[in-house]
Order: sequence, then C-alpha cells, then structure tokens
Amino acid sequence: MTARQAEMLASPQARAAQAPAAADPSPAAGVSNPKQKASGYERDPLDWYVEPAWCTELLAAEIDFKSVWDPACGCGTIPKVFSEIGSAAHGTDIVVRWSWQTYTGDFFTVKKDRTPYFTDIVTNPPYRLAEAFIRRAFELDARKIAVLVRLDFLASQKRYKLFTDLPPQYVFVLSRRPSMPPGGSNVPAKGGMHDVCWIIWDALQDAPTEMRWLK
Ligand SMILES: C[S@@+](CC[C@H](N)C(=O)[O-])C[C@H]1O[C@@H](n2cnc3c(N)ncnc32)[C@H](O)[C@@H]1O
Repeated sequence: MTARQAEMLASPQARAAQAPAAADPSPAAGVSNPKQKASGYERDPLDWYVEPAWCTELLAAEIDFKSVWDPACGCGTIPKVFSEIGSAAHGTDIVVRWSWQTYTGDFFTVKKDRTPYFTDIVTNPPYRLAEAFIRRAFELDARKIAVLVRLDFLASQKRYKLFTDLPPQYVFVLSRRPSMPPGGSNVPAKGGMHDVCWIIWDALQDAPTEMRWLK
C-alpha cells in the first residue's frame, strides 16, 4: 500500500455510507425493485449470487496471485478456480455455504490473526457492501485486491472518492455478460442481466489505471 493509499483509508464512515438503500438495485440479478425480480425470485438478503467460474479463470490468466483469500466465498467458485490452477486459496463466508470453508465469519469483524493465511484478496463481494469490502481489504493489508462488480460500480458520485483516493491498477471489462443466479436455488444460469468487470489494486504498483477487455 502506498503512503497516500494508507492515508486515504482513514474512512470509517465508508461502511455506513454504503448501508443498503432500500431501493438499491440488486447486485447481480438486480432490477430496481429490490424484492421482486423480473426473474421471479426475491433478492437474497446477503447478496448470494453465484458467478460462473470463467470470470475468475479470465482474471487468473491476466494477473499472478500468490495466496488468495475470498472472504465472501459462497459455494467456493473463486478458491476452487485458484486451487485448480495450483495456487493456494482459502474461502470464508459469513454463513456456511461450502464444505471447504476455512471458517465462518463476518469479514468486517474477523481479527487479523484469525484470517486464513493470504497475500491477496479476490472476491465477488455482496454488492451492497462492495466499497466497504474493498476498504476492509486495504485495512487488512492485502497486497493485491480484485473485486468482481457490476460495470456501473465504476460510476457514481458515491464512489468518486474511493476511486480517486485509491486508484486501481487495472479494470478488466468482461466482454461476455455472466449469469449470476441466486446461490442454493434452482434458478438456471442463463441470460446474464449485468455487465461486470474486475477491479484490481496492487499495493506494489503505483502506475495509472489500465483498462483491458477480456473475452
Ligand atoms: C456475490 S456472493 C459470492 C458468490 C461466490 N463467489 C460463490 O461462488 O458462491 C456474496 C457472498 O458474500 C457473503 N457475505 C455477505 N456479507 C458478508 C460479510 N459481512 N462477511 C463475509 N461474507 C459475507 C454472502 O453470504 C454471499 O455468499
């Protein structure tokens, strides 16, 4: 983390500022009514929407991660991809969702000495808490941080400060739109509703943000 980034991290209001607005659109399958979706299912209270493995495969083909922790692992899609390519990877979540979870707990309150060993944090965070997840990952001194978010996360008055205080190293736009059905449901993965991107911070780099398009 650069000195400037560390200084800018002093933003304890970040999480509160991100408190879910009742009318906030859903993260992955979202439409403007937070309860009833066009797809017919209700918004998951913990934003458990499962991305396809290819999202992480595209990321892993571009960036080298050392020891990955996904603190919102759901059913483990991200750590599974990293394990399959031979990288150390752990997954945790606020509830038990995956039998290989290292522990179950809240990313915001887990003590530093209780986290799994990690150098890098890669996650598809609960959308309503995405900014707070990013700031928390900085607080925990992750070397690289990669978050999968909707493309419109990049634009917003609310997040202007985040991106200007903590400019990312990369933005990878996924040219294919992933389907993210609610976890644990029988909703088939088809017809993604949102464009998404990976946003990546690297504490060891201080170069201007670079954009790439991944196919
Ligand atoms: C978008 S889903 C992640 C999907 C995941 N990649 C998968 O393969 O299932 C977000 C996850 O964040 C978890 N979550 C929500 N709030 C959390 C918190 N405060 N700490 C840790 N995990 C949290 C939810 O339980 C949910 O599983």
